[in-house]
Amino acid sequence: MSESTVGKTITCKAAIAWEAGKPLSIEEIEVLPPRAHEVRIKVTNTGVCHTDAYTLSGVDPEGAFPAILGHEGAGIVESVGEGVTSVKPGDSVIALYTAECKECKFCKSGKTNLCGSVRATQGKGVMPDGTVRFKHKESGKELLHFMGCSTFSQYTVVADVSVVAVNPEAPKDRTCLLGCGVTTGYGAAVITANVQEGDNVAVFGAGAVGLSVVQGAAQRKANKIIVVDINDSKKEWAEKFGATDFVNPTKLPEGQSIVDKLVEMTDGGLEFTFDCTGNVTVMRQALEACHKGWGQSIIIGVAAAGKEISTRPFQLVTGRVWKGSAFGGVKGRTQLPGFVEDYLQGKLKVDEFITHRHPLSGINTAFEDMHKGDCIRAVVNLFDN
Ligand SMILES: NC(=O)c1ccc[n+]([C@@H]2O[C@H](COP(=O)([O-])OP(=O)(O)OC[C@H]3O[C@@H](n4cnc5c(N)ncnc54)[C@H](O)[C@@H]3O)[C@@H](O)[C@H]2O)c1
Ligand SMILES: [Zn+2]
Ligand SMILES: [Zn+2]
Repeated sequence: MSESTVGKTITCKAAIAWEAGKPLSIEEIEVLPPRAHEVRIKVTNTGVCHTDAYTLSGVDPEGAFPAILGHEGAGIVESVGEGVTSVKPGDSVIALYTAECKECKFCKSGKTNLCGSVRATQGKGVMPDGTVRFKHKESGKELLHFMGCSTFSQYTVVADVSVVAVNPEAPKDRTCLLGCGVTTGYGAAVITANVQEGDNVAVFGAGAVGLSVVQGAAQRKANKIIVVDINDSKKEWAEKFGATDFVNPTKLPEGQSIVDKLVEMTDGGLEFTFDCTGNVTVMRQALEACHKGWGQSIIIGVAAAGKEISTRPFQLVTGRVWKGSAFGGVKGRTQLPGFVEDYLQGKLKVDEFITHRHPLSGINTAFEDMHKGDCIRAVVNLFDN
């Protein structure tokens, strides 16, 4: 971190998403200095999440190009703009796609982790002042930001409400996963649902998100933790994170539905179910497998554009609750540093989620990995080319 870059434009490598449906292209970009209330970060590592793939595929109606994707990243603060007090150059940080300003109606409500401060501009791929900090070196073309993070670049600029300093001893090539997948699942279990000892829990979909719900439920000493996945190889993974049972819904006896099976296994249904698939049919099954009178179903999965959920209203009339969870209900600036401490003390699993690693030049392979059943999370090292 030489002082010489402060206040100057940095030329570095980034994976550019030029258009939907095309692989990312590793090229040189220029990253402008941070303006007031902005932070420039040297991104050392990034995970690759389904939301990146969703936007890159072109089915995300809000996806805009050309852009620099990525939202599961860790790094070091290179420099800060005027008025930034929460982080300083040299700090180890995690980028936050769910900002926390601590001042807006949402932040002050004490009821949600959603923050309104940068929502509108973040969705448009620009900084809060409406402009961008990325330019393609060769053509001078402006490149859009993504989810307020853009971690598929060696350097990025984020709003100061979208970054949190964490213990520098935590290895960034692991804690980057706390920027999305691991935190989302774990938080959904311990914050959104607030699973209690003895509860019966079912988790639909054993990817990084679902497995992290399992670890949250196990930590809370849930009674049964049933993982439902169409891929049998996820049984072993589920058990590794603390699941007590595994059910493949495609292999049930003729005439038995997954809802019937779960209700039978738990004497009437579950205290909590979680959708970690993004499939709206699964969301319905998850709701209907809840115990009458008190069961709650938490939607975490992101459904394809235009999809809707349905059930008979009687399911809710008889006491089942349907809710959702974004970033696990976690307030990034307030709570993420504690998660990093928990990880360092061995109370929160993170390393176990990493199945694949790639240099920046292999980032497209990381996208291919995601479509294979054996990948939980792929981590990219931005400075290993
Ligand atoms: N709400 C949030 O803040 C948030 C954050 C991150 C990710 N997500 C979403 O969470 C979901 C899970 O993410 P992930 O990274 O773990 O995904 P993943 O693809 O790694 O895992 C999904 C799992 O679901 C299983 N599955 C697919 N269809 C199924 C079905 N019909 N029944 C049972 N299992 C089925 C797959 O075999 C796989 O194991 C995605 O939709 C992702 O977009 C939401
Ligand atoms: Zn994500
Ligand atoms: Zn706020």
